[in-house]
Amino acid sequence: MKKIKTSEITPEHLYISRRRFLKGAGALTASALVLAACGRQSSQVTPISETPTTGEPNKGEGDEASLTDELGDPATSYKAITNYNDYYEFSTGKEAVARMAEDFPTSPWKVEVSGLVNHPQTFDIDDLRQFEAEERIYRLRCVEAWSMVIPWLGFPLARLLKEVEPTSKANYVKFQSVYDPENMPGQQTLPYPWPYLEGLRLDEAMHDLTLMATGLYGDPLPPQNGAPVRLVVPWKYGFKSIKAIVKIELVEEMPTSLWMAVGPNEYGFWANVNPEVDHPRWSQATERRIGESGRRETLYFNGYADEVSDLYTDLDARKWYY
Ligand code: MTE
Repeated sequence: MKKIKTSEITPEHLYISRRRFLKGAGALTASALVLAACGRQSSQVTPISETPTTGEPNKGEGDEASLTDELGDPATSYKAITNYNDYYEFSTGKEAVARMAEDFPTSPWKVEVSGLVNHPQTFDIDDLRQFEAEERIYRLRCVEAWSMVIPWLGFPLARLLKEVEPTSKANYVKFQSVYDPENMPGQQTLPYPWPYLEGLRLDEAMHDLTLMATGLYGDPLPPQNGAPVRLVVPWKYGFKSIKAIVKIELVEEMPTSLWMAVGPNEYGFWANVNPEVDHPRWSQATERRIGESGRRETLYFNGYADEVSDLYTDLDARKWYY
């Protein structure tokens, strides 16, 4: 396989030191590789105000204390990132997920990549090591109007898609999370059409910012953050960043995500962060950054407009969300 140099594909501000990169690559090997949408129906919505403000600003090891995103904002603490989670397969209680997911088995694990491709493949999680991991510090903006800055470790999804070669009929990519009700209590108790599904248009999936994350803060992903591998699409609301992926299918028609099926009036396919298009039940103009007091203004495309707005020249801005 042709290896693409990190410097060829990553704007300098999006990756950091070689030392951290190597640490991350090691973590990937060592691990054997290792909401609501955020979309509950009106009667069940979690108040947005209940966000933790305690905890160290950063993980606090060596130079990690100075990690920032490219806008200069500090990374959210490891403690907050790993203890305030949307993961409905376990629970709708964000602060309960870490404990409930503690023993979730993430090995062995396979990811099937199939559909409209020339070379369908099933990757063992260890095979994903061929896609060198790099660190990307991204903002995560949940549709519920809270946000974090997360130092992910992962590889661009484009590299994996190039391996399987989408055919000319492939227009969309459909992602499926694991279905494991024995180990995921939410799949037994919450009335959603499991498994969790999400989708991207092919050009979105091929965009360099779109990451398959296998770690955070230089360590393997913990179960509550979507181990062993999840998607991260930083310019879209967090519900698009599907966790614990077992299947990636190239398809012709726009896929219906779990949230589109559950709340079609509230959760659309595009879900691009847009401060001007409110959720039917709350404003999207501002957000609460976890670990900070007060609110900050939400940025178009979550601050990634320069990188991604060209993808949407044919889409009415009002429809960025839906
Ligand atoms: N993926 C799955 N499989 N199940 C989920 O409930 N929640 C989504 C997304 N991916 C979710 C999911 C939502 S709403 C958000 S905001 C992010 O995961 C939260 O990711 P985090 O817990 O790592 O911060």
